[in-house]
Amino acid sequence: MLDYNIFLIGFMGSGKSTVAKSLSRKLGTSCAEMDEMVVADQDMPITEIFDKHGEEYFRDVESEVLERITKEKHMVVSCGGGTVLRKRNVDFMKENGHIVLLTAKPETILKRVGRSTNRPILNGHMNVEYITELMDKRKDSYMSAAELIVATDDKSIAEITEEIIVELEKFDA
Ligand code: S3P
Repeated sequence: MLDYNIFLIGFMGSGKSTVAKSLSRKLGTSCAEMDEMVVADQDMPITEIFDKHGEEYFRDVESEVLERITKEKHMVVSCGGGTVLRKRNVDFMKENGHIVLLTAKPETILKRVGRSTNRPILNGHMNVEYITELMDKRKDSYMSAAELIVATDDKSIAEITEEIIVELEKFDA
């Protein structure tokens, strides 16, 4: 049994949700998907939350959801791509578990999320140039929060899951 939480952070399409499910299954723990919790809490899709209330409001709800999740221990948490933008969220995650950054090249991200329309941050900007620019802007936030960095390009979910487990075991050793 895990005695800490694992927070998966990273850009949209870096694989957080899929890896969180796989990792939690392997570790026999629960899994929390922050975006799904925000949607359930507000009873509307993320695009509608952005349209009706704006990004700051979304970020406030996201922070509340994060605090609620960490009342539970032993969870694998798939964070939203922008959760690390608030320092308070990062401090909170560090106090309550280990932070794992999943990375992917902009080209890989585009391949994974190019058809999706439920990410307001990327809607209307679904191209490699924009993804590269936004990734660069966020790079410091991701890198400074991360305790472990796992590149996901050209790896299977099983490989990524295994890599995280092996690396996290070293933390405990
Ligand atoms: C966001 C990422 C999304 C979601 C929202 C904002 C971001 O989560 O929280 O659309 O600012 O990067 P995913 O990374 O799970 O797509």
